[in-house]
Amino acid sequence: MTTGFVISGYFLPIVGTLLIAYLLGTIVYRLCLHPLAGVPGPILAALTYWYEFYYDAIQPAQYVFKIQKLHKEFEPVVRTTPAEVSIADLDFIDTIYSPGPSQKRDKDIEKVKALVLDSSIGGAVGHDLHRRRRRALSSFYSPRQVLRVAPDGEVLNLSDLYFGFANDFGFDQNLMAGLPGAHTRRENFNGVLRAVKLNSQFTWVRDLLRYLARSLPLTLSSYITPQTDTVGRVGQENINSIVHELHNDHKLPQSERSPRRLEDEAVLLLVAGTQSTQVALSLVHYHLMANSTIMANLRAELESQPSSTLAQLLQLPYLNDVVQETHRLAFGVTGRNARVSPDQPTTYVDKSTARTFTFPPGTSMSTSTLLVHANEEIFPDPFAFDPGRWLGPAGAARKNYQMGFSKGPRMCIGMHLVNAEMVIAIAAMARWNLELFATSYEDVTFLHDYHIITPRLDSKGVRACVKSRAQ
Ligand SMILES: *[C@@H]1O[C@H](CO)[C@@H](O)[C@H](O)[C@H]1NC(C)=O
Ligand SMILES: *[C@@H]1O[C@H](CO)[C@@H](O)[C@H](O)[C@H]1NC(C)=O
Repeated sequence: MTTGFVISGYFLPIVGTLLIAYLLGTIVYRLCLHPLAGVPGPILAALTYWYEFYYDAIQPAQYVFKIQKLHKEFEPVVRTTPAEVSIADLDFIDTIYSPGPSQKRDKDIEKVKALVLDSSIGGAVGHDLHRRRRRALSSFYSPRQVLRVAPDGEVLNLSDLYFGFANDFGFDQNLMAGLPGAHTRRENFNGVLRAVKLNSQFTWVRDLLRYLARSLPLTLSSYITPQTDTVGRVGQENINSIVHELHNDHKLPQSERSPRRLEDEAVLLLVAGTQSTQVALSLVHYHLMANSTIMANLRAELESQPSSTLAQLLQLPYLNDVVQETHRLAFGVTGRNARVSPDQPTTYVDKSTARTFTFPPGTSMSTSTLLVHANEEIFPDPFAFDPGRWLGPAGAARKNYQMGFSKGPRMCIGMHLVNAEMVIAIAAMARWNLELFATSYEDVTFLHDYHIITPRLDSKGVRACVKSRAQ
């Protein structure tokens, strides 16, 4: 007997049998024995992650839209991957995101790994680690700090604002002064955000990339190194930035001040703070230019209550309704935003059938801002930009369903800063007559889920010609 005979005679059949047994075992486990086996949804989604892969990576970031359709078919609970459920019941939002002080919510580790920024506040999987990182950052984003960024006096213009914004993070580049530079930067961010969809399927590729990141030029890190270069120098220079302050905060454990962690935090804050704000500002400016009624209402309010300080602007009702409507149609973080209860089971009762579902600890529970913000019962004609929705008691009640900054203990830390930027920027927009140039609704609306709303993929952005100063 030769070895060759053994391999051809026994080896392949044994391996083949084991493989088939493994596949059958996985199928039987996922479909019949898994704790989520009874949850409605397409069989393929319960069986394999390739279903998600198809709708998010082969199709350009379409799974949230597919899930929206699945909810019409299977409502209100759908098993979206072997280990994840989507719940489209607005009464369940708080259970997912804001379950009260005695219960913890972790993030889904697989999704966090896909972001490639594990040691940032957004990459903190565990409830307690997130709280610690958040505490370290919270003073930078408090309302008091925001008022310091935009002191009383003349309302700032956009270039000042963005300059101050970029500067505050320790990246001493005036992007607004050089629009080609800002354009390149925006493309880089888009590249990073689009890579996340692939990363989430192949986290081992990501681990390999990170391992090689320092030696190979063509990796994800090369997209972002221009932004993070300055972080490494932060210790030597006297830059007054968040990263600098974290670095020198000796109350934090050494592990929370490591270069890797500071770099991740800087990239996250920069991507989250810059790109999503830019998307929201483009969106609202588009709608102000596209609908003269809304612009006229806004100008009337700004004229009748002249406001030169941030504090005054934040008091203007119509302006704030415009901001609310912008957050609604900007859809915040557009993905599924899964949360995991690490130690307790979670129960959901489908009110229409009285059926009870129990999700064991560790289940990834999600809902998307699409399922909430485009819910036709709460927001009729959901894709119309209508600040009037937020008026009066009905409008106040709708604020419970505002998920633009998410909800609960992981609510966006930059909320006050973003809202300050928004009112300042929108008031500035109202001072100019601009006309849209070769720009349509498809250039601002939510067509792809690359973490932030992404309009048609060949969009050149919102473009406009300046006509005159409005008076
Ligand atoms: C905005 O501020 C920048 C920087 O201070 C200044 O150069 C620019 O002229 C200002 N633009 C307008 C329209 O006021
Ligand atoms: C403009 O906005 C107003 C108020 O939100 C709305 O009633 C109207 O239908 C909009 N007009 C267009 C052309 O979309």
